[in-house]
Amino acid sequence: MSFIEIREISKSYGDLPVLNRLAMSVEEHQVVSLIGPSGSGKSTLLRCINGLEPIDSGEIRVHGDRITGPGVDVNALRRDIGIVFQGYNLFPHMTVLQNVTLAPIQVLKQPRAEAEDRAMELLKRFSLAHKAKEYPDRMSGGQQQRVAIVRALAMDPMVLLLDEITSALDPELVSEVLNIVRDLANEGMTMLLATHEMGFAREVSSKVCFLCDGVVCEEGPPEQIFAEPQRDRTRSFLRSIREAKRI
Ligand SMILES: Nc1ncnc2c1ncn2[C@@H]1O[C@H](COP(=O)(O)OP(=O)(O)O)[C@@H](O)[C@H]1O
Ligand SMILES: [Mg+2]
Repeated sequence: MSFIEIREISKSYGDLPVLNRLAMSVEEHQVVSLIGPSGSGKSTLLRCINGLEPIDSGEIRVHGDRITGPGVDVNALRRDIGIVFQGYNLFPHMTVLQNVTLAPIQVLKQPRAEAEDRAMELLKRFSLAHKAKEYPDRMSGGQQQRVAIVRALAMDPMVLLLDEITSALDPELVSEVLNIVRDLANEGMTMLLATHEMGFAREVSSKVCFLCDGVVCEEGPPEQIFAEPQRDRTRSFLRSIREAKRI
């Protein structure tokens, strides 16, 4: 069984079907990239895996455990599955250190000193220790996004979901965030990421899934998806991305 198994899940918002019996899987220590047109359901899929959105039918399993449907402890799920968004979502009235230690203290019930030691260790590792007492709005977007990743890592998640985490950044700040993801990939962190950074997806992914019409239209190793896509839809999507010089 795969580490994450998504079994024919469907999800609509009112009359709008977004995911339509979508199936895919992620192996442990794999990095899987979700690509696809805007509105193809990448964010919805990530939010369903994290329990932020209920699904209408189907099933998601992580590490063998069913994480959708009745009786699931959504809070436990969110402890184990980290998610980082495009807009960082740091608490503006809290320092970096407070942002990073909040969930370990409140949710994992770690003693403050222990949570702070661990937070400082992570901040140091990502060259952010000198920002521990800083407030988010006094930092660059790249620094804020790195803090958001550290905050997710402080919970020791089994899986990290990353939703377009570089999309809000000025171009010169993208690489400092992607470098963290690259490091985490090298360390074997299991990650599922929605991205428009095709060069990065090609470099870092074990597998790329192209979403369209509510399903995974095409999936495969990055060399195949980017160099020899099999489906017309995939080809035309990649062509439009190339024309926009995003690859
Ligand atoms: N909370 C919501 N309520 C209603 N419609 C939504 C909501 N979230 C997303 N949608 C719609 O669902 C579709 C898929 O959106 P999304 O998952 O954000 O796609 P992507 O991340 O691939 O751009 C879009 O048509 C979007 O407008
Ligand atoms: Mg999205």
